[in-house]
Formats: sequence, structure tokens, C-alpha cells
Amino acid sequence: MATLSLRLRTVLELLGPCRLLADVGTDHGLVPVEAVESGRAERALAIDVLADPLAVAARTVRAAGLTSRVSLLHSDGLSGLAGRGVDAVVIAGMSGKTMQRICETDPDVVAELEQLVVQPNGGVQYMRAFARRAGFHLTDERMVYEREQYFVTCRFSRRDGPDPAYDLEGLGLDEAGAFEVGPLLVRRRDAVARDYYRLQRKRLADLVKRGAPGRDQELATFERALAICLADPPAIAR
Ligand SMILES: C[S@@+](CC[C@H](N)C(=O)[O-])C[C@H]1O[C@@H](n2cnc3c(N)ncnc32)[C@H](O)[C@@H]1O
Repeated sequence: MATLSLRLRTVLELLGPCRLLADVGTDHGLVPVEAVESGRAERALAIDVLADPLAVAARTVRAAGLTSRVSLLHSDGLSGLAGRGVDAVVIAGMSGKTMQRICETDPDVVAELEQLVVQPNGGVQYMRAFARRAGFHLTDERMVYEREQYFVTCRFSRRDGPDPAYDLEGLGLDEAGAFEVGPLLVRRRDAVARDYYRLQRKRLADLVKRGAPGRDQELATFERALAICLADPPAIAR
């Protein structure tokens, strides 16, 4: 994994063992190749809606000598994957809303998944909310800072029963707030997330001061998340 950026390494670290991984929006193809090379995935599909990125992915797959285990698919989202045995999906590098649309367009594929790993470049709350509705548990989340940008990666796993990540008692956050800030990041008092919450609090406080409507609740959510991270001694049990 030495040549991968911190952002992509995080995606791979959160991916659990799987039989057939679909990397939607693969572009360079590094994720499916590394997933197979590292033994996380037995086989992988590198999917892109555009021909040019897929050609780059094809070169990555050939260079790694993995043409028998990583297949290329010119396709929109998850279309046509039902019944093909895909048990894990990675989507990284698009907005959370686009990811939500991709997942909602093919519920049959999503219903067959054991895990879904996402790293949106904004709007992660849409995917936390979607995954909760779709019967996944939020089993891990990480935040990294790279090239002056914060990236959140979430792993959602197919599990029965109530999701402990959303047992919010004592946290002082409602569910919508937890979708925004990440219940596991807050509980862990994550150091990178703390800096992100501080930045968001300042941005939102400036907006509210300038009279922007409807941002007070969001500001209160980030203030609460930051307060939890800064409390000394810790105000919540982990
Ligand atoms: C910014 S790149 C991200 C590449 C890689 N996943 C990463 O995180 O480094 C986004 C890629 O997603 C592809 N893409 C966008 N919408 C898509 C869709 N609906 N289905 C498949 N691929 C899509 C684009 O063509 C592009 O190659």
C-alpha cells in the first residue's frame, strides 16, 4: 500500500474480507487492485461510467498482472450487478448525494451486500442516513486530512438488531446531528474530527452572525460534537 495516498489507504483499511468487490467510480483502478493484491478481496470489479478513466484502470490492472481477478465494467453505478455475487461495494470520490442516488437506484444489489465502504467528498450525512434506512450498521468511520481537505470514510456492515452506533443516550445529539458529525468519531473523540468540528463551528457561526437562515441547528450540532471532544475529563464513556 506504500504508493497509495492516505485517503485511499483509509478506504482499504476499512474494507473487510470479501469475495467480490465492486469499486464504483474506480478511475485509476488502484482500490480494486490493492484490495485483491492485499488479499482483502478474492476478486473485484472496477466500474466507471466513463471510458477514459476505465482505460486508465485497465492499465493499472494489467501492470499488476491481475487481469484474471479484476474485471473492468463500463457501467453507471450498480446497474446490472444483481445476482452476480457482489458482497462488498466501495464508492469514493463523489458527493454523498450522488452515492445515495447510485445506491437507491439499485436496491436489489444493495440488499445482497455484506459491506459498503464510502468516502464522499462532501455530504457524508446522506450516506449515513441511507445506510441506516437500508439495514446496515455503522461499524467504523475515520477522518483524515490530506491536501488541505478533510475526508470521512465510513464502513457499513449488514447486521441484525439495533445499531449500537446510534445509541445516542448521553451524547446530547439527535439522529440527524449524528448523521452530520459521525457518532463513532464523536464517541472516540477523534483528534482529526475535532479540528474539523472546530472549523465547521467557525464557518457556521459566521453564517449565523450574517443572518443566514436555518443554520442554527447545524451550528448547535457541531458545537456539541466539539464540546464532547474537548471535555476534560471525558464527559462520555467510550
Ligand atoms: C473523482 S474520481 C474518484 C476516483 C476514485 N474512486 C478515488 O476516490 O480516488 C470519480 C470517478 O467516478 C466516476 N463516476 C461518476 N459517476 C459515476 C457513476 N454513476 N457510475 C460509475 N462511475 C461514476 C467518474 O467517471 C470518475 O472516474
